[in-house]
Amino acid sequence: MDVCDIKKVNSIYFSEDIEEVLSSLEKTRCEFWNLDRASANFLNMLIKMNNSKNVLEIGTSNGYSGIWILKALEETKGKLTTIEFWEKRQSVARENFKLCCKDAAFEAKIGSAYIVLQDLEEEIIKSKREKFDFVFIDANKKEYIDYFKIVDRILKPKGVILADNILTHYEKTLPYVNTLFENSNYQSQILEIGAGMMLSRKIK
Ligand SMILES: C[S@@+](CC[C@H](N)C(=O)[O-])C[C@H]1O[C@@H](n2cnc3c(N)ncnc32)[C@H](O)[C@@H]1O
Repeated sequence: MDVCDIKKVNSIYFSEDIEEVLSSLEKTRCEFWNLDRASANFLNMLIKMNNSKNVLEIGTSNGYSGIWILKALEETKGKLTTIEFWEKRQSVARENFKLCCKDAAFEAKIGSAYIVLQDLEEEIIKSKREKFDFVFIDANKKEYIDYFKIVDRILKPKGVILADNILTHYEKTLPYVNTLFENSNYQSQILEIGAGMMLSRKIK
């Protein structure tokens, strides 16, 4: 391996059957707008390093990134809540989760992200659900800024937000990026991983 080949990812983590599912999903990556393996690997590591237990994903698609999240949550003993408005994709994701992640809990929500986020906040206010400690944003790029308005209220202090497509969808995500950089309660950094990710940590 060339030391400059930063996209190279060691794939020794999973059993052969899980690797089979992942590599078959990687073949249709462009059709389902999935993360690349390097970004997915980073997401998985981040959840484990942060010991996150209550993860929210906005933008499930067919569950590729969700599998990587759930594999991390098997280790931290946590749960994934994931939102997708396309029912067919969500049902494929559910099958993929059951196939690859037998020991991790997930809740797949179908609906428009902004509406589902409002419902989740309502449940948190009524103490029916705990705040999240990690949020992965990967749905409608123009709506990142709207998602953040609610995510900010349902994220625990010291919680983490990872947002994808910050560099590939620069103009659409700019309001989100500026808002995060201007918010003194968040420490943020843009990373040149995959499509460009913004990593933010809520201070209090
Ligand atoms: C970039 S893909 C997600 C890829 C996934 N995170 C992965 O890496 O495997 C974005 C997904 O968000 C869904 N989506 C887009 N806008 C949405 C919205 N407003 N509410 C819910 N889902 C949305 C799309 O249908 C699409 O499947």
